[in-house]
Amino acid sequence: MSRRRAEAAAPTGAAAMRTSGGSSSRREFLTNAAVAGIATLAAQEAAGQEPPAEPSSTKLPPQPPAGRVPICAISSDNGLAATRRAYELIASGVDPLDAVIAGVNLIEDDPEDITVGLGGLPNEEGVVELDAAVMHGPTHRAGAVAALQGIRNPSRVARLVLRETDHVLLVGAGALKFALANGFQEENLLTEKSRKIWLHWKQTLSDQDDWLPPPAAEVDPDVAKFFGRPTGTIHCAGINAAGDISCVTSTSGLAFKLPGRVGDSPIVGAGLYVDNQIGSCGSTGRGEANLQNLSSFAAVELMRGGLAPREAGLTILRRVVEHTEPRLLDQQGRPTFNLQLYLLGKDGTHAGVAIWGPARYCVTDAQGTRHEPSATLYERRS
Ligand code: GLY
Repeated sequence: MSRRRAEAAAPTGAAAMRTSGGSSSRREFLTNAAVAGIATLAAQEAAGQEPPAEPSSTKLPPQPPAGRVPICAISSDNGLAATRRAYELIASGVDPLDAVIAGVNLIEDDPEDITVGLGGLPNEEGVVELDAAVMHGPTHRAGAVAALQGIRNPSRVARLVLRETDHVLLVGAGALKFALANGFQEENLLTEKSRKIWLHWKQTLSDQDDWLPPPAAEVDPDVAKFFGRPTGTIHCAGINAAGDISCVTSTSGLAFKLPGRVGDSPIVGAGLYVDNQIGSCGSTGRGEANLQNLSSFAAVELMRGGLAPREAGLTILRRVVEHTEPRLLDQQGRPTFNLQLYLLGKDGTHAGVAIWGPARYCVTDAQGTRHEPSATLYERRS
């Protein structure tokens, strides 16, 4: 068996030593903990007390019959082409992880999408820094890169971290070295369009610096559309007929961020999460709000407890609102930012949810490729 296949199947050799701890003291600790647990249960029974309920993490909702799950791919609003590609590949037998990454590569390669890959909006110094993560349901393995410069497909580098290393997350210069060692080509990801948007942001940021705002009549209309600080991202998840789920999240992150800022996208449990027996969740929007709530992990856990994707997502968004600090709330106590989640259940049911609407997400299934409305907590009036 090749090293790659062996690692995907189970940790072996040195990897097994690392994951098991490889020491008798750790084994003793686990044994002692188990004995202590049994002793506590025995004491509770002897005292006539009910033992605590089984932790919900060990229970599973009813599982769909294998081979009978409707194939489907879902994504954030900017991923119609990604879901179409992912669906076609899954339907032709490709593993859902490779299928959703191939779909997202279309968006990463598209210079018109200024939130992902080539042409993504840069950090405050004008340098594009990308974050991405991938997660494979059947093996529960994940790979991610953060603050990666010069490589247009961070999702492919993240897959290599998953496949070729014993790590989950590589960042910055280390992630770039890893990508170059694996044959990726370095390039300038700042397109003319994203450079002009960044320059306009600098010119209009403050009247206390030496940049003068350009006369309004001279502002390129293509640039004027993007005033503000977009937090776009792509998330894409796919499920095959066997019910195997995988997903990917890829982004250039918060526009004009501090160099080195890492958002939610490459953080497993925040930007994405899969439990192959339950479902998946991924996010777009204000990464900091998600990082403080690990929304994707939390939503999948609510699905484990029996909530449908839509209800699980809305419950987590309400929690995010409750946890939001006052400086980020409007006068009605509503967040001044958006956060969106995309949820896919083990039975192929799916939902998009957003703090602010109108919002929508993309779906490709046997009925075709389309946008569907996301459920929202609040609606903006246009
Ligand atoms: N959700 C993308 C980011 O905040 O970086």
